[in-house]
Amino acid sequence: MGSISCYAMVVSGLESIAAKEIESVLGAKITRKIDGLVTFKIDGPDPDLFDLKTTEDVFLLGWGTDALTYRASDLDDIRKWTAKEADWTRLISHHHSFKPKTKGKPTYRFITQMDGEHGYHRKDAQKEFAKGLARFIPPNWRMVEDNASVEFWLTINEKTAVAGIRLTDKNMRHRPYKVAHRPASLRPSVAACMVRVAELKPHHKVIDPMCGAGTILGEYQIYAESWRVPRAAAWGGDIEQAAVMDASANTRKLGKIYLNRWDARWLPLQSGTMDRIICNPPFGKQISSDVDINKLYRGLMIQFNRVLCQDGKAVLLVSDYAAIKAACDNVKWKLEKKFRTQILGQNAVLSLWHKPGPEGTLQGE
Ligand SMILES: C[S@@+](CC[C@H](N)C(=O)[O-])C[C@H]1O[C@@H](n2cnc3c(N)ncnc32)[C@H](O)[C@@H]1O
Repeated sequence: MGSISCYAMVVSGLESIAAKEIESVLGAKITRKIDGLVTFKIDGPDPDLFDLKTTEDVFLLGWGTDALTYRASDLDDIRKWTAKEADWTRLISHHHSFKPKTKGKPTYRFITQMDGEHGYHRKDAQKEFAKGLARFIPPNWRMVEDNASVEFWLTINEKTAVAGIRLTDKNMRHRPYKVAHRPASLRPSVAACMVRVAELKPHHKVIDPMCGAGTILGEYQIYAESWRVPRAAAWGGDIEQAAVMDASANTRKLGKIYLNRWDARWLPLQSGTMDRIICNPPFGKQISSDVDINKLYRGLMIQFNRVLCQDGKAVLLVSDYAAIKAACDNVKWKLEKKFRTQILGQNAVLSLWHKPGPEGTLQGE
């Protein structure tokens, strides 16, 4: 069958974390990482692809470019590349080997996404994409608006474009465990990235002190399942009782988690007992204007530092990186990794911090 080229859409800035998961779960060869996209090759139609957690969607790759000009001449190129650069007949047969044909006449649809200020409309790009594909689509296939068995996608992001056939569906982004939703809840793929940055071991005691709907704790439990050995119980809490109840509904079936209502600046936990803190404190628009974010983060980090063991690590996701950095510097944590990303339309930074061992001088204890 030869190798199969694919691309995964991931949350911008988290490509290298997703690439690691793709490599380890699928034994894939990563071919490129660009804004929001990871391209890779696999040896065959591996069903584990549907179990990736850090990706939002996965496609068979038809063609890709980073040489769009923003001018209307791109439209000719989109048609030509679609008609000549990809073997769509082979891709359709790969699609059937991942997802067996449904009964009855196959249905299809075109989907075009476009970001950036281009000198043409998204609909015009889709028209040329469809023209390029026309001769590859069997005549008995029926075009539909929704629920197509085969989706042909064209995604344009500034100078970059990729075209392909979608393999996954919304089930990749949504998790069946998430029955209760909260407005500031993280995308599961982002929480899954945070968990993978935390360098976890089965004996680690993990806590999300501001857990909201419990997405981080849920993704931790799913990740820890793969260890196939007993793991320590996890901890979580939130200042809002409704959040604690939602987190409890969402994580009930996933593993042992102690959930509490608390103010994360005064945690009812013994000092030095947690190995990993993974947390997405409220940020930006989620905070009312009378809250001083520097003061909030400073108070939180003094408390997080108290409960974290020597040599422990914390993964934090915030939009105001300067404020969290000042708070982490205050407790003498060392920055180990930093990823610039976008959360709910805002710039954000996912960072990994290390609390140094006994020789480090610690404040806030
Ligand atoms: C960005 S949300 C977390 C979202 C969560 N990661 C999820 O996926 O649902 C921040 C949470 O911090 C909680 N919070 C705000 N101040 C707090 C405090 N002082 N102590 C504990 N929780 C707090 C909010 O109620 C909110 O649920």
